[in-house]
Formats: sequence, structure tokens, C-alpha cells
Amino acid sequence: MKDTAIQVKGLQKSYKQLHVLKGVDLEVEKGSIFALLGSNGAGKTTIVKILTTLLKQDSGTATVNGFDVAAKPDNVRQSISLTGQFAAVDEILTGRENLIMIAKLRYLKNPRQVADDLLNRFGLTDAADRRVSTYSGGMRRRLDIAMSLIGKPQLIFLDEPTTGLDPEARIEVWKVVKELANKGTTVFLTTQYLDEAEQLADRIAILHEGKIIANGTLSDLKKLFPPAKVEYVEKQPSLEEIFLAIIGKKEEQ
Ligand SMILES: Nc1ncnc2c1ncn2[C@@H]1O[C@H](COP(=O)(O)OP(=O)(O)OP(=O)(O)O)[C@@H](O)[C@H]1O
Ligand SMILES: [Mg+2]
Repeated sequence: MKDTAIQVKGLQKSYKQLHVLKGVDLEVEKGSIFALLGSNGAGKTTIVKILTTLLKQDSGTATVNGFDVAAKPDNVRQSISLTGQFAAVDEILTGRENLIMIAKLRYLKNPRQVADDLLNRFGLTDAADRRVSTYSGGMRRRLDIAMSLIGKPQLIFLDEPTTGLDPEARIEVWKVVKELANKGTTVFLTTQYLDEAEQLADRIAILHEGKIIANGTLSDLKKLFPPAKVEYVEKQPSLEEIFLAIIGKKEEQ
């Protein structure tokens, strides 16, 4: 168990008669990026809520950083952070004030310094003293992720970190997530985008009709598809490639 950050076995959850999770099993290795893929309503947020102690499962077990989520929720909470599907930033405060507030709530010694460092790391220094209500979607998302890093959690949950962002902002968020993992943080993210999982994840699991129907590395998953047929067709650029070409930015990976 020493290298396991998350272990889930036989997890079940219903909302009244709606049986959302029908026995989910998964494991996430420490220091890795794990992507949970699934369409709208598959139950991704439900899993994140159970793992972050915001919701109780009906049956099955889940262990996070060695602590059982049902038996030791306080220990779990101390070792994780969550960036929920909907931004948790305070609109009326400035970016800097949001960060300082969280640093104070976490009893850190030097909240102003912590805020300055994160503003710098997330490219928000110029906007630091503006109210968040004037931020773009990408800026809010970056601030939200920055806030969840305060106190250096070992494990971070990102529920659809790039939904609704433009391609440039998505790439920025991807960069931040990769940096986190390079520094040893375990990342559990949910997404509806295959390319996002492809870009980021060491392992990918697909949640469908209440169960994990595929789980592995990208190359494991590619093997599940029939061998590629050779066809001669003109390759059309993706909208994302066109967009990035027009705004003059090349993908940085
Ligand atoms: N509090 C609740 N009460 C009743 N039903 C709920 C509740 N929360 C979620 N559901 C339902 O459970 C199912 C799974 O929801 P969940 O939010 O986990 O899906 P998701 O995979 O995160 O979807 P999305 O991609 O849209 O975020 C959906 O059908 C949803 O309507
Ligand atoms: Mg969701």
C-alpha cells in the first residue's frame, strides 16, 4: 500500500432510485496524474465528492492517503485539496485577497508572501489587485487552482479543471498540472475531453453506466481499439490547431 494515494473498492452510491455508482474499483499511485473520464452525468463529481468526504457512499470502501474516507474524514481533509467543478473564488475580493484569506484560514506564517508567490507562478501578478468579478474564465480557474495549492497538499482533486476555457487557457492549466505532478503532488482529475487525458494523465479510467469500463495507460487503452486502417485522406487541421495558429501560439508540449 505504500505507494498508493487512493484505493477504491466496490463503491456504490444512489440518489434515491437513481443508481449512479454500481461498484467502482480504482487505484491511484502516489505522485501520478490520474484522469477519470466520463460523459455528463456519469458520476465523476459523485466519486470526487466521496473521496473528498463531502458525500457518504452507500457501500464499498475508499482510502485516501492511507485514511478511510468514512472512518477518518478529518485526516483525509488535512491531506488533500479540492478544486470543484464550479469556481469557489470570492467575486468581491481581489485575487490577492482571496489567496491571503485562504493562507490565513490555513494558519500559514506569511500569508502575503504565499499569495505573492502563487500570483507570480500563475501569471496573475498584473491582475492581483483587481476584483475577481473582472477576471476572465481562465484567470478565475487559475486563481481557483492557486487557492487549492495553499498549504502544499499531497493530493489535489481537480473536477473538470478546463471545462469552458479557451484553448490557450486550457494549455496554461495543463502546464500547471504537469508542474504539480513533477514536484510530487498526486493529481486526480476528471474530464470529458479525451485529449486532456491524453496530454496529462499517467493513467486513464473510463466511467460508464456506474462502473469503470477501462483503466490503463494511454497505450493500454489504444490497444483496446481495433488496429488502425491505412487510408489516404487529406488531414484536416483541428479547430484547436487553427485557433492556435491564428493567435500565433504554438502548443508548448
Ligand atoms: N444531489 C443529487 N441528487 C440527485 N441526483 C443527483 C445529485 N447529484 C448528482 N445527481 C445525479 O447523479 C448523476 C451523476 O452526477 P455527477 O454530478 O456525479 O455526474 P458527472 O459525471 O460529474 O457529470 P458532469 O460531467 O455533468 O459534471 C446525474 O444523473 C445527476 O443528475
Ligand atoms: Mg461533474
